[in-house]
Amino acid sequence: MSATQPVDESVRVRVPAKINLSLAVGPARPDGYHDLATVFQAVSLHDELTATWAPPGEVVVKTVGPYADRVADDEDNLACRAARLLMNRHGDGGAWGAHLLVDKGIPVAGGMAGGSADAAGALLACAALWDLDLSPADLRELGAELGADVPFPLLGGTAVGTNRGDELVPVLGRGCFHWVLALSDEGLSTPEVFARFDELDTDPDAPRVPDELLAALGTGEATELAGCLHNDLTAAACDLRPDLARTLELGTRYGALASLLSGSGPTVAFLTAGESQAMDLAHTLRGELGTDAVRRVRGPVSGAKLLQVLR
Ligand code: C5P
Repeated sequence: MSATQPVDESVRVRVPAKINLSLAVGPARPDGYHDLATVFQAVSLHDELTATWAPPGEVVVKTVGPYADRVADDEDNLACRAARLLMNRHGDGGAWGAHLLVDKGIPVAGGMAGGSADAAGALLACAALWDLDLSPADLRELGAELGADVPFPLLGGTAVGTNRGDELVPVLGRGCFHWVLALSDEGLSTPEVFARFDELDTDPDAPRVPDELLAALGTGEATELAGCLHNDLTAAACDLRPDLARTLELGTRYGALASLLSGSGPTVAFLTAGESQAMDLAHTLRGELGTDAVRRVRGPVSGAKLLQVLR
C-alpha cells in the first residue's frame, strides 16, 4: 500500500469486553505487575473502531458514544499507541497513517478491559487497512507490549491467562451463559486496586486456576459454574469502594446464581440461570440501584472481528 491510497478507504472492527470468571493474584513482582492465574470470558458488550486512511505518519483518535467524555483522545490513548506501535514495527518508511474512530460501548475504567479492547481493535483494523501480513498470534504478541489485557480481546471466547494475564490458552467449554452487569458511574484505577491488594494480603499464595472451574465450563451448566466464580481483588476493590459490597449482595438476594467483581472492578457481574432470569434481575436491579447502568450480556462471544472493509 502507498501514501497515495484513497482517503475514504476504511476498516471497521468490533471488539468485546471481558469478565474474569476467576482471578487469582500472586505477590507483587519487581516489574510492578503481579503473576495472575485467570479465566477470561468475552461478553457481548462491544467497542467498534473504524480506521480510515490518513496522511503518512498521522495517527489521531476520536472517541464517541456514552463514555466518550471519560476518554482522552490524545497520544496516550491506547488505540493511538497501538496504531503507532504497529506502524513503527512494520511500517514502510512512515508511508502510513490512520484516523481512528472509537464508538465506546464498554465502560471506561470498569474492570472490563475497555481501553485494552480499543488497543486490540486498532491493531486489527490498522493491520487490515495497511495490508499487513500478520497472524493473530503476531497481533497478540504486539498487544502484550501495550498492556496485560490487550491479547485477550483479540482471542475472545473463554481462555486461561497466566503470567501477567497475557499468556493465553483457550478453554474448550460448552453452552452460553447469561450475565447481568451492574456498571458504576465512577471507575476504579487498576494500579490502585492492585496496590490495596498488596496492603491487605501481604503473603498471597501462588495463583492457580481451579480445576473445578474448568470442569464446570465443560458441563456448560450455569449452576455448576456459579460455585466456582472467584476474584482475589474483591476485598481490595470493596475497601476502596464500600458501595460495591451492597451491589454484590443485591444480585444474589434477587435471584442471581452468583455475584462476581469483574477484573479490578467496579463492574459487578451476576450469573443467572438463563435469559428470562437475566431479564428479571436486570429489571429489579435498575430499581434497587436507582440507575439505568445495568446491562444484560452473554458469553462467551468471539474475539475482535473485521466487520467491514471499504476500498
Ligand atoms: O498492563 P496494564 O497497563 O493494563 O496494567 C495496568 C496496571 O495494573 C499495571 O501497571 C499494574 O499496576 C496492574 N497490574 C498488575 N498485574 C497484572 C496486570 C496489571 O499489577 N498482572
